[in-house]
Amino acid sequence: MKADVILGLQWGDEGKGKIVDLLASRYPVVARFQGGPNAGHSIHFGGKSYVLRSIPSGIFREGALNIIGNGVVLDPITFRQECEALIADGVPVKDRIYISRKAHLILPTHRILDAASEAAKGKAKIGSTLKGIGPAYMDKTGRNGMRVGDTEAADFMDRLSVLRQRHFSVLRQYDYEYDPDADLKEWLSAVEYMRGFKFIDSEYFANEVLASGKAMLCEGAQGTMLDIDFGSYPFVTSSSTVCAGACIGLGLPPHSIGEVYGIFKAYCTRVGSGPFPTELFDATGEEIRKKGFEFGAVTKRPRRTGWLDLVALKYAVMIDGVTALAMMKSDVLAGFDKVKVAVAYKVDGKTVSHVPYDTYAEVEPVYEEFDGWGDLTEARSYEELPVSFRKYVEFIESRTNVPVKILSVGPDRSQTIIR
Ligand code: GDP
Ligand code: IMO
Ligand code: MG
Repeated sequence: MKADVILGLQWGDEGKGKIVDLLASRYPVVARFQGGPNAGHSIHFGGKSYVLRSIPSGIFREGALNIIGNGVVLDPITFRQECEALIADGVPVKDRIYISRKAHLILPTHRILDAASEAAKGKAKIGSTLKGIGPAYMDKTGRNGMRVGDTEAADFMDRLSVLRQRHFSVLRQYDYEYDPDADLKEWLSAVEYMRGFKFIDSEYFANEVLASGKAMLCEGAQGTMLDIDFGSYPFVTSSSTVCAGACIGLGLPPHSIGEVYGIFKAYCTRVGSGPFPTELFDATGEEIRKKGFEFGAVTKRPRRTGWLDLVALKYAVMIDGVTALAMMKSDVLAGFDKVKVAVAYKVDGKTVSHVPYDTYAEVEPVYEEFDGWGDLTEARSYEELPVSFRKYVEFIESRTNVPVKILSVGPDRSQTIIR
């Protein structure tokens, strides 16, 4: 069997959690391949709402095993909080989660380093979620990191001490006040809690799953425009959010990838700093934010809003090799007289159809306008949808050359049309 991948095509928060939860009933194994508790994946069903941070969104499906892959950076404190909240709701997390020994650990000092680094950047700050993601990945690539498997080593406390000392010496370069022992006790206790879970060599596990004929769904975090290589650097996260990240973050060979589901909103949002060509600063932007409840699932920060950007979407489709699109939150645009889509950019007076290298370039979107549509939230088949909306969908399909196979018309699991 092949591993199917679900990932975000924009700047995160596209609705990945909802689609992973929806499709997870078809997959015995669901695996997160990168990111960490900077992610917030919301899921609504049966009148209840959940936000998952590091735990894969297949956790609510009986019979689905959830893997935290080697590409993830795991904070034992948030992991424990997530688990305890799920257990309180009757979800048997211990039976359903396996953790890769090779996943890297986020220490409390990684979070301090994140905060110190952002504070030092001043106006040029990334707008990080301050969960320690950047510093943890820096330790990983700098070959200083600690991994989940290290918690089983006899000299774990010594290794921890060495890494903490390294962090303190880096922190001395910043004019930043902090408590060196902040959260340390809680972190150590959470490490003990985490050790109650099954640790696996997830690269062997994942490949054996596929070899035994079982299907696997890989869940991405963030979005393609936040990718460390292909996003709007330096306003990005620190991991590979693109499809290739699923291979790296789980140890899967490229030929084992099957369907690639690209998740995008019918408009765009971004939280944190960085370019956003179609951003709206007017009443329309505010209305999208209000109707779409565009506030961070983790940080509660208001998300920046704007029209759909087809230049960026086509770029993401190309890099990810998307085979099926899922368009989310079209219901939020209901009631607008006209809906716009950026089909090109004007850069230095020239019309271009590529994402410019220069993150700081002045980019003016070139729009095409579409007739708006009314309420979509009750529709459960493509045929029930308004003609004006279907024109919008079919335009996106024609420009991306990828079918929109899933249409989400509300946050609930049931508010979904599969074509
Ligand atoms: P993720 O990080 O990609 O999983 O997305 P988030 O959970 O951070 O943000 C998506 C938000 O939109 C969540 O609050 C979802 O419940 C909500 N949502 C998902 N799909 C739809 C939809 O089709 N319509 C509306 N109105 N809300 C949706
Ligand atoms: P999900 O998985 C939206 C953004 C931050 C910041 C930049 C770097 O829920 O879609 P980091 O904490 O990684 O150092 O932040 O990336 N960011 C996200 N934006 N959704 C996310 O995750 C994000 N994870 C990080 O706002 O601009
Ligand atoms: Mg999110």
